[in-house]
Amino acid sequence: MNRSVSRRGFLEKAAGATAGVAALKGFPNLNLNYGVGLPEGLPLVLVSGSKTWASDAAWGVLKDGGEALDAVHAGAMAAEVYPRDSSVGVGGSPNEDGVIQLDCSIMDGKSMQCGAVGCIEGIEHPSTAARQVMEWTDHCMIVGPYATEFARKMGHTVTDISSEGSRDWYRRWIGRHSDSDDWFNAAESAAKMKRELPPSELGRRQRELERNHGTINVLAVDVRRDVAGCTTTSGLSGKIPGRCGDSPIIGAGLYVLRDVGAAGFTGRGEEVIRVCGSFTVCEQMRRGLSPTEASREAIRRMVDETNEGNANFSDNAVAINVKGEHGSFTVSGRSRYTIHNTDGRQTIQGEARL
Ligand code: GLY
Repeated sequence: MNRSVSRRGFLEKAAGATAGVAALKGFPNLNLNYGVGLPEGLPLVLVSGSKTWASDAAWGVLKDGGEALDAVHAGAMAAEVYPRDSSVGVGGSPNEDGVIQLDCSIMDGKSMQCGAVGCIEGIEHPSTAARQVMEWTDHCMIVGPYATEFARKMGHTVTDISSEGSRDWYRRWIGRHSDSDDWFNAAESAAKMKRELPPSELGRRQRELERNHGTINVLAVDVRRDVAGCTTTSGLSGKIPGRCGDSPIIGAGLYVLRDVGAAGFTGRGEEVIRVCGSFTVCEQMRRGLSPTEASREAIRRMVDETNEGNANFSDNAVAINVKGEHGSFTVSGRSRYTIHNTDGRQTIQGEARL
C-alpha cells in the first residue's frame, strides 16, 4: 500500500491548492478547511480490476488538489497505452476483421457534460478524443470513421495501434473458426502454442484467446466533491465491425451524477445497455443506496428482467459516492476493483451474491 501522502499533509496541500478556486466559483459557504469538511474517504479514485497503473495516474492528479475530470482522464490515458493491457487502447482486442475499434466515454459531474467516441480507429487516446467531443463541440458522441477524422482534426496522429500481442491474438482467433478453410485449425493452433510456450506462459495465453470485453472504468471524487468518470475499451474481441458496446453510451457503461456519485460497467455491453446500467446505479445512489447496494440493484435487473434469471454472462458494476464510499457487484463472482485515497491504494474483492 502506498502511504507516501499522509492525510494531514494532503489536506494542507489540497486546501492551499484549491482555496482560490473555490472562492472564485462562488461557494462562500464551502469549508476550505478540508480537514473538517471532507469525509474521511475523500478524495477518492476507483478503477475497475487491479489496473494499478491507472489508479496511480489518477491519484497523481487528485493528491495535489487536482480536479476529478483531469484525474479520470489521466487514469484512462495510462490504461490506453499500458503495454500489457490487451483490452484497452493500444494493443487492444481486434474485431472480426482484425481491426482495433475503440469505444470511450467521459463525463464531468460538475457541469453534467459528457463526450464519447465509438468505433474509433488508429487513435492512441480515445479518452482525449471523447473529452474533446465534450469540450469542443455541442455534441455528445461521434462514431466510426467520423470519430477518427474528428480526432485527427483535433491534433491526434492516426497510427497503427496494434501490437505483437493483438496481431498474434487475431491470427490464432481466425484459425479457430472452421476446419475447412485455409487457416490452420484451432487444434493445431493450440498444439503449436503448447509446444512453443513454457507452462507459466501457456495459461495466460490460453485465457487471452477467449473472447473478452476488457474495459476499464475510472471514477473519481476530488476535494471539492466534484465527481467524474471515464470508461475506455477496445470492446468485445472478435466483434462484428461497427459494433458499439456499452462503454461509449452515457448511462450504460458510464454515468456521473453531480452531488451523488459515479458508476461504470465492465463485461458484456449488450446486457448493460438493456438496463441503462450506470444510470440505474446512480439513480439508486441518489435514492440513498450505498454504491454496493445500488450496483446490486442494477445487476439484479439485468438478470431478472432481461434474462429471466439466466445469468450466463459476466457483467460488473463499480460505483463511488461523494461521501467517499465505494462498491461493486458482479454476476460472475470474480470481480475486483482498486481504490486510492489518502490511506493508500487497495484492491478489493467486490460483492457477487444476488
Ligand atoms: N463492456 C465492453 C463491451 O461490451 O464492449
